[in-house]
Amino acid sequence: MNNKISKIGVFTSGGDAPGMNAAIRAVVRACAYYKVDCVGILRGYEGMIEGDFEQLDARSVGNILQRGGTVLKSARSKEFRTPEGRLKALGKLRSEGIDALVAIGGDGTFTGLHKFYQEFSIPSICIPGTIDNDLSGTDYTIGYDTATNTAVEAIDKIRDTALSHNRLFFIEVMGRHSGYIAINSGIAGGAAAIVIPEETMTFDELYEKLGEGEETSKKSNLVVVAEGSKIGDAHTLAKKVAERSSYFDIKVTVLGHLQRGGAPTYFDRVLASRMGIAAIEGLLNNKSDVMVGIKDNKIVYNDFDTIMQSHHEIDEESMRIAKILSI
Ligand code: F6P
Repeated sequence: MNNKISKIGVFTSGGDAPGMNAAIRAVVRACAYYKVDCVGILRGYEGMIEGDFEQLDARSVGNILQRGGTVLKSARSKEFRTPEGRLKALGKLRSEGIDALVAIGGDGTFTGLHKFYQEFSIPSICIPGTIDNDLSGTDYTIGYDTATNTAVEAIDKIRDTALSHNRLFFIEVMGRHSGYIAINSGIAGGAAAIVIPEETMTFDELYEKLGEGEETSKKSNLVVVAEGSKIGDAHTLAKKVAERSSYFDIKVTVLGHLQRGGAPTYFDRVLASRMGIAAIEGLLNNKSDVMVGIKDNKIVYNDFDTIMQSHHEIDEESMRIAKILSI
């Protein structure tokens, strides 16, 4: 165990994700268990620069496990990207006596912490919290399971009304650079087609898929589109189909930020709890500049440099399954 660490600062940064609170709770309780002080840093790097800190103990994180969002709040900080901003943050951490950091967030959060570590060598560990599931080095990120379940629930509801009115729906889910939510909510929701940023489906290919419905008079269909689609978002695709054919009665639903909120699923709560404890145990065992991950249901620690070099690819198997099922 590393006896040099006496006070750990924990913060959430970037887009919030359901299960972040469960991770905060696990971090704080693991600190209490190992008798290390824990301080919450509010509003991510913004709060670090301003010295917005809050002492946390095992009791102060009661009743947050089941809540969406983040009790520590989140923000994107431009100032932390500057050397002056990072120096200010260092000063505030030093005067509070914080000698190690746990960040819960996505790749932007990690990039900031990696830079900070390189400059000032403060022991740091990241926990992957993003609904996008786009980080390499882990099979799952916190929040992805909940967000995908939310999308599936919405798709099921849209299917009811789509069938009643024989309508073609374009449903847009989140994922600026990642098709994870789209591919798996599309498979689980029985979509006729799934458009993701990682796959090079052309508009003509998409149209052909729907056109097949024209021959078999399948007017009611669901198309799931990831917001980062390379061939246009849900509104654009709907417009293009309408321009080509008046056969379909087309509607668009953009699920948007409702995918970011809500109570975390059991899966995300357990994942967050395991990762929170792993972060503290990692720090106390001299691990630093790493991201906690889960691989084949085992906790792993990944070097920042390694995970930053690649994206979490969607496996070929998921794409193959989606293709077979949407015939
Ligand atoms: O959390 C990741 C993500 O949900 C992306 O899929 C989406 O594009 C983005 O965040 C939107 O974030 P914000 O609303 O905070 O700008």
